[in-house]
Amino acid sequence: MAGMDLTTRLGAIELRHPIMNASGTFDVLEADAVLQPDLLAGFPFSAYVPKTVTLKPREGNVPPRLYETAAGLLNSIGLANKGIEAFMEEDLPRLAALKAPLIVSVAGERTADYGVCAGMLADRSEVAAVELNVSCPNVELDGRALGCDPDRTRRATEEARQATSKFLIVKLTPNVTDIVALARAAVDGGADCVSAINTVHGMALDPWTLRPVLGHGSGGLSGPAIKPVALRAVYLVSRGLDVPVIGMGGVTTAQDVLEFMAAGATAVAMGTASFRDPLLAGRLVGGLETLMKERGISSAAGLTGRSHG
Ligand SMILES: Cc1cc2nc3c(=O)[nH]c(=O)nc-3n(C[C@H](O)[C@H](O)[C@H](O)COP(=O)(O)O)c2cc1C
Repeated sequence: MAGMDLTTRLGAIELRHPIMNASGTFDVLEADAVLQPDLLAGFPFSAYVPKTVTLKPREGNVPPRLYETAAGLLNSIGLANKGIEAFMEEDLPRLAALKAPLIVSVAGERTADYGVCAGMLADRSEVAAVELNVSCPNVELDGRALGCDPDRTRRATEEARQATSKFLIVKLTPNVTDIVALARAAVDGGADCVSAINTVHGMALDPWTLRPVLGHGSGGLSGPAIKPVALRAVYLVSRGLDVPVIGMGGVTTAQDVLEFMAAGATAVAMGTASFRDPLLAGRLVGGLETLMKERGISSAAGLTGRSHG
């Protein structure tokens, strides 16, 4: 559309539109082979975040690990991944073909792991930014997520900050009393940006046996059910802090993208909706332009934070 400027910026990283993918919900290397052979070249998202990698490979939780609820998806994948070394050897060179900035998501079972992983990626030119997933169970906190503890969050961010000069994002968990305090801890530790939210703690029971459905017992809820929770988090964090916020949680329509940006997001990520329609993001861009035009908003920058008044 003439006169529309959908570009947005995360530090020095320019995104051609605000819609990126959420970690763990879109495997571009798989999708490229199965869905569309030229997906790497004609990638619908403006940035790509692969599934979180950890220092050592992880098997993840016992199955079943996915369950669909009335308005969202419960998962207890448990960060199953091949480990950062295999990721760097096998996946990173292939991801270089992607026509979008690459944001690598890392997590650690120990606080120090964040610095080690960030350091391993520091010199890789394929990597535009590093995202710290602080929802990983932490052995120093008896298995609680590091991201529930402001002090640990700050320290993990500091470790990563010292290890890399790349754009550093901390992905917040909503499973806390005061998400702004956690965001502040991340920024105090040197984060350039925060993303919000990861999944919301949840559980489902088998209607017949009345036992928990997921092998792990409980899991993380995503999809439309969590959109209001996520919108509030983005609103509060973006008002409280002076760093860009990547908003996510239940984004399914162009209207959702519009609202997350108005709540204060500089970019918006889509996760669960991609399972139903992996190419949805590309179509939402046109929808977003129309919704902005109808409201007389001509740029993504002019949309961010509109709700703040
Ligand atoms: C199956 C599944 C796997 C996920 N894996 C990760 C992951 O590895 N790292 C991460 O930071 N978030 C992970 N997430 C959380 C998403 O990135 C996102 O924060 C959350 O699902 C909310 O967005 P959505 O409602 O659009 O899915 C996962 C979500 C789902 C549903």
